[in-house]
Amino acid sequence: MRRRPSARPLSRRVSEPDSRFHVKRRSSPAPRILAVANQKGGVGKTTTAVNLASSLAVLEVPTLLVDLDPQANASLAFGMDYRAGGPHVYEAMLGRQLLSDISRPTELENLRVVPAHPDLVAAEIELVDIEDRALLLRQAIARDANLPAIIVIDCPPALGFLTLNALVAARWVLVPLQCEFYALDGLARLTHTIGLTQESFNPELGILGLVLTMFDKRNRLSFQVAEEVARHFPELLLKTRIPRNVRLAESPSYGKPAILFDVQSSGARAHLELAEEVLARLSDVEGVV
Ligand SMILES: Nc1ncnc2c1ncn2[C@@H]1O[C@H](COP(=O)(O)OP(=O)(O)O)[C@@H](O)[C@H]1O
Ligand SMILES: [Mg+2]
Repeated sequence: MRRRPSARPLSRRVSEPDSRFHVKRRSSPAPRILAVANQKGGVGKTTTAVNLASSLAVLEVPTLLVDLDPQANASLAFGMDYRAGGPHVYEAMLGRQLLSDISRPTELENLRVVPAHPDLVAAEIELVDIEDRALLLRQAIARDANLPAIIVIDCPPALGFLTLNALVAARWVLVPLQCEFYALDGLARLTHTIGLTQESFNPELGILGLVLTMFDKRNRLSFQVAEEVARHFPELLLKTRIPRNVRLAESPSYGKPAILFDVQSSGARAHLELAEEVLARLSDVEGVV
């Protein structure tokens, strides 16, 4: 994989980093940050984030998965149960700990996970008086010199404070679309929110791609949705389709990504393909910042 340093390091694009931390110079290029977002629930965000991050790791790209959903499903998919305690992403957003310090190892050498906690639900209300509350995740990333090449953020099913933090921190958005009748419903609102985020906080934010999830080749509707998305967004639609595959639904209950649960499954293979396509797209678009 080609890795070019981005024109402007992230650390210089954010407001003053927290002075309580010694901000070390990055020895490697700033991480590429990818938010997996769609305000609809159940469309495959967490499944995509977990299995894409795992596949990137298998492809030897050091990756950090940040769980930003109070439901903490991505954390649970790696067997990280918030009931067992331990620091979670909010600690880093509040500047109390570094993301790299609270990230936890997984069975995959190149993948670490920053878990979420249901307490995140309260964050929006707790932080109502803090002016920079949309910048918390971005600042947490900027003050951390020990982050890997790629950060994948799993967003909650809403366009509130947490997804906004992800969009402000990210360079790219990956949008999973479930192959069902209302697949494109809500996409206009998401792109509107992305537009507002660009204007107010993050002019470089862009959509890396739309990925079809739960594609069922025995179902005509899946093909119709694929055609419709391709017609409206020919440039954005990724070639890789994630099939409906029971292994993807089962693996979280074993605390493993699909690639470790059943590497031969169609779901595991599709996510490996997705990771390759994402890497190819990132190196295509990187120079054109
Ligand atoms: N490709 C797939 N094949 C089968 N089941 C899937 C697939 N993708 C997601 N699921 C299941 O659908 C449900 C919703 O997926 P999830 O990734 O949690 O969506 P979201 O994070 O957008 O709410 C989960 O139970 C998940 O296991
Ligand atoms: Mg989810």
